[in-house]
Amino acid sequence: MHIHAYEKIWLAASVLLILFLLGSVTYGAVGPGVAMVSDTEPTIDAGALDEDERFSEPRVERVGENEYAAYVVARQFGFQPDPIVVPANSTVTFYITSADVIHGFEVAGTNANTMVVPGEVSEITVRVEEPQEYGLLCNEYCGAGHHVMEGKVNVVS
Ligand code: CUA
Repeated sequence: MHIHAYEKIWLAASVLLILFLLGSVTYGAVGPGVAMVSDTEPTIDAGALDEDERFSEPRVERVGENEYAAYVVARQFGFQPDPIVVPANSTVTFYITSADVIHGFEVAGTNANTMVVPGEVSEITVRVEEPQEYGLLCNEYCGAGHHVMEGKVNVVS
């Protein structure tokens, strides 16, 4: 089949348009309530989290005035640390990775929600206000124990 140069340009333009539309759907899903930025960083070795500076000891660290970083590992079938304890009236950035398969990380009742992929670090920044205990759920099917995979996020004064 012979394609004219002119048609090729239109073909390329429609492919670009489709990619653009897909992109806007992917990045458009942020609602009101908890301010949220979700992104992933370059790769990490899921089989060697023990040797990773951030994830060998899952923890919450103070990184500034009213600013905290939570390093969280999801694995079949739980989260570490559990509970994740963060101070009220602060900004918390969760860095989440998986030690095995794809999991979900959803703070129940909020829009803090991301997929957790082995080899990648998912990042969510939230603003926490009042002291409250939140349930933490895995919302990606990850095996026989998926339905019991849960944790807690405790916002404390
Ligand atoms: Cu982890 Cu479902």
